[in-house]
Amino acid sequence: MKSNKIETIAVHGGQKPDPVSKARGMSVCRTTAYVFDSAEHASNLFALKELGFIYSRLGDPTSQILETRLAQMEGGSAAVVTSSGTSAVHYTALTLARAGDEIVAASNLYGGTHTMFKILLPDQGITVKFADSNRPDSFRDQITSKTRFLFVETMGNPALDMPDISALAKIAHEHHIPLVVDSTFTPPTLYRPIEDGADIVIHSLSKWIGGHGAAMGGAIIDSGKFDWKNSNVPLFNEPDGNYHGIRWAHDLPTELAPQAFALRFRTVPLRNLGACLSPDNSWIFLIGCETLHLRMERHNENAFAVARFLKKHPEISWVRYPGFEGDPSYTVASKQLKKGFGGMVVFGIKAGKGKSATERGRKFIENLSLFSHVTNVGDTKSLATHPASTTHSQLTEEEQKATGLPPELIRLSIGIEHIDDIIADLEQALAN
Ligand SMILES: Cc1ncc(COP(=O)(O)O)c(C=O)c1O
Repeated sequence: MKSNKIETIAVHGGQKPDPVSKARGMSVCRTTAYVFDSAEHASNLFALKELGFIYSRLGDPTSQILETRLAQMEGGSAAVVTSSGTSAVHYTALTLARAGDEIVAASNLYGGTHTMFKILLPDQGITVKFADSNRPDSFRDQITSKTRFLFVETMGNPALDMPDISALAKIAHEHHIPLVVDSTFTPPTLYRPIEDGADIVIHSLSKWIGGHGAAMGGAIIDSGKFDWKNSNVPLFNEPDGNYHGIRWAHDLPTELAPQAFALRFRTVPLRNLGACLSPDNSWIFLIGCETLHLRMERHNENAFAVARFLKKHPEISWVRYPGFEGDPSYTVASKQLKKGFGGMVVFGIKAGKGKSATERGRKFIENLSLFSHVTNVGDTKSLATHPASTTHSQLTEEEQKATGLPPELIRLSIGIEHIDDIIADLEQALAN
């Protein structure tokens, strides 16, 4: 059955009952390698004349169901899954850029991505220039003939700033380079960035898509819309020594051309650096997809209620939630987010009782009992963290400021427990 309804795709996308066992659920193929039908079949698979399974580092049937489902949920042409969101970001950079190239990225990124862009990629010869995600023109100002892509998070971690994706896509496309977006904080039942012109979408599946804090994983989704036949993306136009000298923009069979990015991602960094997702974890993420839309409704509803509670609380100095009219993200959030404003709330406690705002914030986290103090988001369980001393602690004070991170900021990932219990826990932690 074909459906364009995301709730139906989330449950059925990419999967039919197994024709041999008749199992209705997804099978997990625990094998490293797949038998070739003949010598010709083997060489056709390696030459991309046919697509099929070779060796599980390159793909497996369970992960393929997940990839098909994610591509359909995001409205893309193909997806590739990886062992973490971090490897998905890194391999995206290596699929598009090499030593001597440049990237323009938002400064308000998840701390791990920020460090990768500030230290690791420059060590590999790729220069990253940082821009202000709230000012699309600041990206345009930094594009040179060496820029290979623009990179933003759809909802910045941790400040919850939301860049205008269609404005950034316009700038990227004027320069014939792709716009890459990490949409981890806005899973596809909330936002589909390809509809606003994003060319590549990245997810840390470890967050809301998996949804239960049960497994690590990442994914890229290729929109299939970017025109790779242009000199601003040389890795797609020159013979690729990594894969039989193929020119990805020119030599693929017509039906595979819309998957050029996904194919280079799979056959170059994934094949040669190896951070593949295990089929067991793909199975966990498939189960996560099936209830994503239901969980997100509760995450959105609970997070909005928490934000309202904090806003009225006398001990709180400020609260950010993209759903508040007047929040700096509200204009973009109300344009881009179709079904709620997400499960994250960030806030600062007032200084007082002889303590600084940061000291009181840390004490508040220790006082929580239903909330878990962990460095994660997107779990069914409510979570709290203090990013300045954990996820973003490798950033300098100035970089923390640029990323929208005041030292007292507390980040809450609101779970799907009963709202009364969530509020009661916050209330007692603020009182103690
Ligand atoms: C927005 C964002 N992107 C990427 C990542 C990295 O994903 P993973 O932890 O799955 O490697 C994270 C992790 O917190 C994140 O918040």
